[in-house]
Amino acid sequence: MSTLKSLAFAAAAVLFTGGLSGTAGASQDDLIEAGRKVFNSCRACHDINTEKNKVGPELKTLMGRRAGALESYTRFSDAMKNSGIVWDEASLDKFLTNPRGAVPGTKMFFRGLKKEQQRKAIIAYINSMQKK
Ligand code: HEC
Repeated sequence: MSTLKSLAFAAAAVLFTGGLSGTAGASQDDLIEAGRKVFNSCRACHDINTEKNKVGPELKTLMGRRAGALESYTRFSDAMKNSGIVWDEASLDKFLTNPRGAVPGTKMFFRGLKKEQQRKAIIAYINSMQKK
């Protein structure tokens, strides 16, 4: 009974806030679009449109990859290879907050993204760009 009641409340809340599927889809698109812009600070060193390495390894096949394990990229630091990281949303969030704090000795010279919203957006973008 009380479960039904709270379900009804939840449904009403969705209607009142206009949170129907169309709106939810648009906001996900907005997040990805924002992330595409944040990714401009990575593009000089990372390709995500193709599997081509630059100064840094390509990020098109990043998700689920072990850190420092991309075979086509030969310049990983020992720090990255030995970090034990597997790239997913949580590990990426931690690394991007402070790369040299998360992986001391990394060759990636990037100060980090201090704003949570920027990291959320860029991770949504990186996810959307993964090779299917
Ligand atoms: C100045 C060049 C540079 C910039 C800017 C840069 N990176 Fe990197 N990135 C590197 C290098 C070099 C490595 C290899 C680091 C190592 O082996 O220690 C790397 C490694 C990585 C890795 C680990 C990849 C793997 O296969 O283990 C991720 C993830 C990553 N970068 C994401 C990003 C993101 C996202 C941005 C932008 C917010 C960014 N990087 C900005 C140069 C850069």
